[in-house]
Order: sequence, then structure tokens, then C-alpha cells
Amino acid sequence: MLEISNLSVDFHTDGGVVHAVKDVSITVGEGEIRGLVGESGSGKSVTSMTILGLLGTRRARVSSGEILLNGTNLLEMSQKELGRIRGRQIGLVSQNALSALDPSFTIGSQMIEVIRLHQKLSRAAAYEEAVRSLERVGMPDPPQKLRAYQHQLSGGQRQRVVIAMALVARPALLLADEPTTALDATVQKQILDLLLEINRDLGTAILMVTHDFGVVSHMCDSVTVMRKGSVVEQGSADQVLTAPEHPYTRSLISSVPKLRLDDTARAVPRAERRLHVFQEA
Ligand SMILES: Nc1ncnc2c1ncn2[C@@H]1O[C@H](COP(=O)(O)OP(=O)(O)OP(=O)(O)O)[C@@H](O)[C@H]1O
Ligand SMILES: [Mg+2]
Repeated sequence: MLEISNLSVDFHTDGGVVHAVKDVSITVGEGEIRGLVGESGSGKSVTSMTILGLLGTRRARVSSGEILLNGTNLLEMSQKELGRIRGRQIGLVSQNALSALDPSFTIGSQMIEVIRLHQKLSRAAAYEEAVRSLERVGMPDPPQKLRAYQHQLSGGQRQRVVIAMALVARPALLLADEPTTALDATVQKQILDLLLEINRDLGTAILMVTHDFGVVSHMCDSVTVMRKGSVVEQGSADQVLTAPEHPYTRSLISSVPKLRLDDTARAVPRAERRLHVFQEA
């Protein structure tokens, strides 16, 4: 479904050219969950932002490659055409939930606006849809949350809102950039399990950006490891977790506490299998 090939992205700064992404090739198949892993500054966010044309600075330049979505090159699209892809075919859950929400509007008015952007619905019908989409992401008391402002929600609840909004138009692919980094461990697992549920129930493919191999072990089918802008290793999650080839991958895996994932992961058979393999490794 998504096919990134030989992508290179440079930033032309006052201090010179920064080669942030170098000759990167990554695919995400229908319904697949692919982890994109690497230390801070390895080029994960730049890669995922490039997919949606959201680099947000004139200093950024794609110097090579293509990004095909169902065969169409996103890099050749105008901002207007990309705008139609965003949300509709590819949903985005960004690194920081706070920046995705507007503090001066209620959750309800923001959700209703996004819903009406994608579907011709009356305000009342859009409100009902907002309630349903918050229910879908496991939010307690949706009507009350819709009346609230973002500061009245917990971090985990905010991230549920952002995920619900990203799913409004039922995109086939979700780009999730460190969706749980700012959350404590328990809430982190709840959000990861929610994404797994969405993948299972709606068939949504996910490109899961993370620095954490624990996340890969918990939920990913496949994984791409980046370091300093380049891909150093990729393959099925089982294969990379049990027999990492690159020393950098090995060091990332060995830094994850082996028994960190608790037994709620076992609700998901696939994750259970991984967890088992991971503990033995
Ligand atoms: N607007 C920019 N101008 C110049 N350099 C940039 C810009 N944005 C990113 N970079 C550089 O590109 C490289 C990759 O950054 P990126 O944000 O993709 O890292 P990351 O892997 O997402 O890291 P993190 O885990 O910290 O989010 C870094 O060296 C960064 O300094
Ligand atoms: Mg990042």
C-alpha cells in the first residue's frame, strides 16, 4: 500500500546541509503494523512527515526517491492534492497530542469540525458521530468529554481524542509518531492496545514510529531500524527480535527490560507469541 523507495531528505541550514534521511526504503502492506525504530535524531519523524508533505519548512528538500501510495507518487502531488490524502487515506497521530488540539475550543467543537470536513452531516448528526468515535477509542463518558477543553483531560484521554480524530474518515493507514512517549507505562500500554484493536477491527495499517523495541515486541508485524538517517536493518518483528543482525539493533533490543510487558498483552494472541519469544531471547 505504501512504498517508500530511496528517499533522501536534506535540510539547508545556515550551518550547512543536514542529511536527515539517506536513501531510505520502507514498505507498509495492507493491514500491516510496521515499527520504525531508532535513537533520537535518526530521521524517523522526518521520514514520516515527508509522507504527508508536512516537513513545514522551505529549508527541507527531498533530494531523491519516491513515496507511492497505492501506486501514486505523493512527492509529485500539490499541497492541495495532499490535503485530500491527509485524514482521508492516511491518518496522523503526532508525537505531541497537546499540539494537535486547540486549547481555546472544546473537544466537541474540534471533533465536530473534523467530522463535517469529511462527511456531509448536520451538527447534531456530527455530534452523535463524535460520541460514537470516542466510544470506539474507549473514552469514558464521551458527552462530558466533548464539553471539556483539552486541559481538563488526562494525557491518555487526550491521546484517545487525537486517535479518534485521526480515524474519522477511516483511513487505510495510520502514521503514529511516538504516540505514547509522553504517557506513563500503564496508560502507554492502554493506548498501544487500542491501536492493536483498531488494526484488528478496522484493518488499519500502522506505521509506528518509536525508539522502543518493547513497543515493537508488543505490537508490530515488521520493523525497520534507522540510525543517523539510514536504514540499518529491516525484517519481520520476530526475525529482528530473535536474531538481530546489526550491532546497533542488538544494543537497542538489549536496553529493553525483558519482563516489562505485563499480562494484559496476552489478550492479543499475536502479541503473546512475540512476548514469549522475546522473553526467551
Ligand atoms: N527543521 C529542521 N531543520 C534542520 N534540521 C532538522 C529539522 N528537522 C529535523 N532536522 C534534523 O533531522 C534529523 C532527523 O530528525 P528527526 O526529527 O527525524 O529525528 P527522530 O528520529 O524523529 O528523533 P526523535 O526520536 O528525537 O523524535 C536530526 O538530525 C534533526 O536535527
Ligand atoms: Mg521524532
